[in-house]
Amino acid sequence: MGIYSKPFVFAITATLVILIGTVATVFVPMFMPSTQPASGFVKPYTAIEQEGRDLYMREGCNNCHTQTVRPLRTEVLRYGEYSKAEEFAWDRPFLWGSRRTGPDLNRVGGKYPDSWHYRHMNKPQDMFAQSNMPPYDWMAANKLDTSISFKKTKVLGYGYTEEEVKQQIADYRSRVTAAGYDSKDTRDQVTPADLRGELTEMDAMVAYLQKLGRDVKSMEAKQ
Ligand code: HEC
Repeated sequence: MGIYSKPFVFAITATLVILIGTVATVFVPMFMPSTQPASGFVKPYTAIEQEGRDLYMREGCNNCHTQTVRPLRTEVLRYGEYSKAEEFAWDRPFLWGSRRTGPDLNRVGGKYPDSWHYRHMNKPQDMFAQSNMPPYDWMAANKLDTSISFKKTKVLGYGYTEEEVKQQIADYRSRVTAAGYDSKDTRDQVTPADLRGELTEMDAMVAYLQKLGRDVKSMEAKQ
């Protein structure tokens, strides 16, 4: 007979056993380093890339684009190396997405020069006549708001000092506004004259797109 004839004791014992099982198989692994792979190649976003990422969310780009390449032959052939867990270490929230009206963007960084992105964002149909992606030309007419960039990187735990964030912003601004910037002509074409010396929302968006998947590409190059 034993425990089977005592419903109350049985219920409590069963609950305890299930609880212990759950803790051991779910919660313990959650805090084990082996389930949270880290890679020295995966770097946090710079302040500008982070601003671009926020704009990507604001504009709902993830309603049409995924950011995860599945380990399937067809996907690897089309987009490149499949996505690894450690790549998303700094992503809060994740932007994996579930709809692919447009192609996956997890490996788009470095695929095109900046000028391609400026032209494409300005008018996608200039690059692909059939594209149903909406134009985002007005983003070049919006000055980038960097007033809380430092706070953002701090909350997300990127570990930059306020000085470093200011430097990142200044560096990126001098990069895209320099006379020798290799995508200068296209940037000038899409950016209103009074904003050519400033950082625009489109600049941040391009910086973010160029970061996607770059860490993995440099990891492969070193192997
Ligand atoms: C209505 C759906 C839709 C939305 C919203 C959308 N896109 Fe697209 N996107 C597409 C389609 C379709 C393509 C493929 C044709 C093309 O390149 O224009 C594409 C292509 C792209 C490409 C080129 C990818 C490659 O590998 O060639 C990039 C980069 C891109 N989109 C970025 C963005 C960004 C950034 C946003 C938000 C600001 C955005 N898209 C919003 C549908 C969309």
